[in-house]
Amino acid sequence: MAIQIPRGTQDILPGDVEIWQWVEAKAQDLCRRYNYHEIRTPIFEQTELFQRGVGDTTDIVQKEMYTFKDRGDRSLTLRPEGTAAVARSFVEKKLFGQANQPKKLYYIGPMFRYERPQSGRMRQFVQFGVEALGSADPSIDAEVLALAMDFYKELGLPNVKLVLNSLGDKESRMSHRQALIDHFKPRIGEFCEDCQTRLEKNPLRILDCKKDRDHELMSSAPAILDYLNAESKQYFEKVKQHLDAVGVRYEVDATLVRGLDYYYHTAFEIMIDGEGFGAITTLCGGGRYNGLVEDLGGPSTPGIGFALSIERLIMALQTKKVEIPVEQKLDCYVVALGEAAKDKAVEILHQLRAAGMTADKDYLDKKMKAQFKAADRLKARYTAVLGEDELNAGKINVKSMETGEQVEVSLHEFIHYMQEHTRGGH
Ligand code: HAM
Repeated sequence: MAIQIPRGTQDILPGDVEIWQWVEAKAQDLCRRYNYHEIRTPIFEQTELFQRGVGDTTDIVQKEMYTFKDRGDRSLTLRPEGTAAVARSFVEKKLFGQANQPKKLYYIGPMFRYERPQSGRMRQFVQFGVEALGSADPSIDAEVLALAMDFYKELGLPNVKLVLNSLGDKESRMSHRQALIDHFKPRIGEFCEDCQTRLEKNPLRILDCKKDRDHELMSSAPAILDYLNAESKQYFEKVKQHLDAVGVRYEVDATLVRGLDYYYHTAFEIMIDGEGFGAITTLCGGGRYNGLVEDLGGPSTPGIGFALSIERLIMALQTKKVEIPVEQKLDCYVVALGEAAKDKAVEILHQLRAAGMTADKDYLDKKMKAQFKAADRLKARYTAVLGEDELNAGKINVKSMETGEQVEVSLHEFIHYMQEHTRGGH
């Protein structure tokens, strides 16, 4: 049997890849305006990074990691997310010691999770993520949230909504934790095995359980917002105030918990309304992770960020029928007839490209009519026809495919002529 692509992965072919390039360029441009700089970290890391960073009671670490031993018997893991790796680099490369704090970073790259594939849930997916490390000012929370929302806005995606919560500081989280234990303990026997171990280790994770989500104790569970201390409350108020100031709308949802352990204070998800989607409506997730850098051996450093997958974004753009401006045109298709003209076409084509134009020709020894057809299919703006006669006269016949107009241009003038006529035409 022919070898097939691994489950939960995809090929992105020409015709589709242009959408990706357009989306990625938009992300890069937005980050440039917000003054976030790109960081590239390895695809695999030491397994321990994610056990410590993401948390070893999370689904990601317990069930979803691609972990393997290399030939030197080291345990490595294909990164399931980007934040822990960025924090590892921040510590290891001592970015905390550099000028320009906070460090404002972004990444676009593949992540790997062994999940049950379904539409919008892949085993390899590409995350665009942003991390700001080194500031505990609520205005940077608002900045990161605004950046994420601006991204969707600038892509023209309608019906997205920001859902916001606060998990509070350590003290608030501890008192909430105790309240959760008291709430679930008497009936923990009715919950799945995972939840039973979560009760003492990390009761917040119970709220995120996919198996027990309909249990009646879930909806009545104590909400974190009722356990915020004064400082945490004030922090949350400030974040909301800054969001109001820049016109970012949000909904507060006290039941929002995230699937990763490192969050404090701000936690959020960006959702799209369900129409046209399956179960998956979360486009983006993120929050503040004030303990992470310290847990990885660095100085105490606050951080906040988000990540979203390009797969889900493109699915959303297509479902909502957002027009995607990715039509690719060719400036010039060179049609050549006869041996000598074909040889000359090789040179001409090279000159066109060197002068900055997109250009192509036939490589299959096609007849003239078929060459014109190919030019049409490639949406060439001009064709340049070179036969024996033209070649002997030192000329080339240039036809505008838009107006049908034809002119004979001397071969010396040709490149200049094409430059003049295609400039700014994209
Ligand atoms: P996360 O919620 O695990 O957070 O993932 C963030 C986003 O990645 C999701 O909202 C979704 O768009 C996408 N995603 C996750 N899993 C899959 C999958 N299997 N297939 C397709 N898309 C997926 C994080 O990863 C955190 N590192 C976010 C963060 C950054 N927090 C602070 N900074």
